[in-house]
Amino acid sequence: MAEHTKSAKLTIDGKDYELPIFSPSAGPDVIDIRKLYAQAGVFTYDPGFTSTAACDSTITFIDGDKGELLHRGYSIDELASKSHYLEVCYLLLYGELPSPAQLEDFESRVTNHTMIHEQMINFFRGFRRDAHPMAVMVGVVGAMSAFYHDSTDINDPWQREVASIRLIAKMPTVAAMAYKYSVGQPFVYPRNELDYASNFLRMCFAVPAEDYEVNPILSRAMDRIFTLHADHEQNASTSTVRLASSSSANPFACIAAGIACLWGPAHGGANQACLEMLNEIGTPDRIPEFIARAKDKNDPFRLMGFGHRVYKNFDPRATVMKESADEVLELLGVENNPILQVAKELEAAALADPYFTEKKLFPNVDFYSGIILEAMGFPTSMFTPIFAVARTVGWISQWKEQISDPQLKIGRPRQLYQGSTRRPYQDIENR
Ligand code: ACO
Repeated sequence: MAEHTKSAKLTIDGKDYELPIFSPSAGPDVIDIRKLYAQAGVFTYDPGFTSTAACDSTITFIDGDKGELLHRGYSIDELASKSHYLEVCYLLLYGELPSPAQLEDFESRVTNHTMIHEQMINFFRGFRRDAHPMAVMVGVVGAMSAFYHDSTDINDPWQREVASIRLIAKMPTVAAMAYKYSVGQPFVYPRNELDYASNFLRMCFAVPAEDYEVNPILSRAMDRIFTLHADHEQNASTSTVRLASSSSANPFACIAAGIACLWGPAHGGANQACLEMLNEIGTPDRIPEFIARAKDKNDPFRLMGFGHRVYKNFDPRATVMKESADEVLELLGVENNPILQVAKELEAAALADPYFTEKKLFPNVDFYSGIILEAMGFPTSMFTPIFAVARTVGWISQWKEQISDPQLKIGRPRQLYQGSTRRPYQDIENR
């Protein structure tokens, strides 16, 4: 960490404490409170981490007011239009865009790790057919720790590298197998001559009786969905991965923890919840009813795919996703899809309503991704697993960054205790 140039003064009971302020390369200054408890005997209080920076990072930067998302300094708009997922993976993992030779080598390393240990198939067979694919993914990715012992020593840089490649390479295979299992079809093995997105589509949609011919526009749209979800700095699932890893847990266990956190509808589960909401609305004439429910303080309903903790202007990923939705629906000849119509009119109605504009609630990336995925033939239950496939590189990059930090400490938040103070135990006959 750079030297601090400014400081803040905190006065408690008439006593002054000086707190260093660090200036980042971009974003707001950060007040360093690490020594506060030792010096002043107080904790800070910030449930939900709305004002707390939990780590140093050089990977991703978001300016929520400007609606800007940068990976290693490159904007998501440029990456989504000029680059592709595996190149973005390289950038996130290693910090720079690859040369042609570096990219070729990286792609071949990923491609050569796409198969999973054959015995892992027994794990899938242990699940009920109607299990949610996210439940299967949490279990199977956690179980990878039991199959890849030779890449679980986090103190060995070579093993860290192998675990990273394995996770990025195998995650599409695991997600596709979870899908195949849920529809009662045989698993489809990866094919090395296909690119990452095409391979995933084929593993999901080919059957032994008929191969799946990958349409390049759909493959490009899939790749773009992966690219747009690749990393998003210290969001809930990434922070979960970092917290799990702070105890030196192995990488497969840490990523399984991230998948579990992503599943929730306030985070990655929002894409499934959003499409279910659009289907429930069904026709544009019901939009006012749902808008009214979202505004009603006594109704827990929220417009899914709307709002973001950090973006308070627009989500740059949503803009690209909307363009992609138009392209894919046109290609598939379903541009008059009634759900897309509901989505467009719902977006317009919400953006014209002061409740949403005053609270800075705009469509997020999940608002349009589900429409594309459904048009491609995925059931809603696969939306969040696809997000997990894409986000694996972000989790892994942040995990690698954290464990390479010589100052790494176990994550151990404090609390504002509001329970009983010490009291004597009551024997059961006296209660
Ligand atoms: N619909 C209606 N009202 C909303 C919505 C929404 N989608 N989101 C926030 N609000 C309101 C809240 O009721 C609250 O109102 P109040 O100030 O009158 O109490 C205000 O806006 C602020 O909301 P918070 O929950 O405090 O904002 P926070 O930053 O904690 O939450 C979150 C962000 C979780 C994304 C929230 O906007 C939400 O639940 N959205 C719907 C779920 C969703 O789409 N999640 C995907 C996020 S993107 C991702 O993970 C890829």
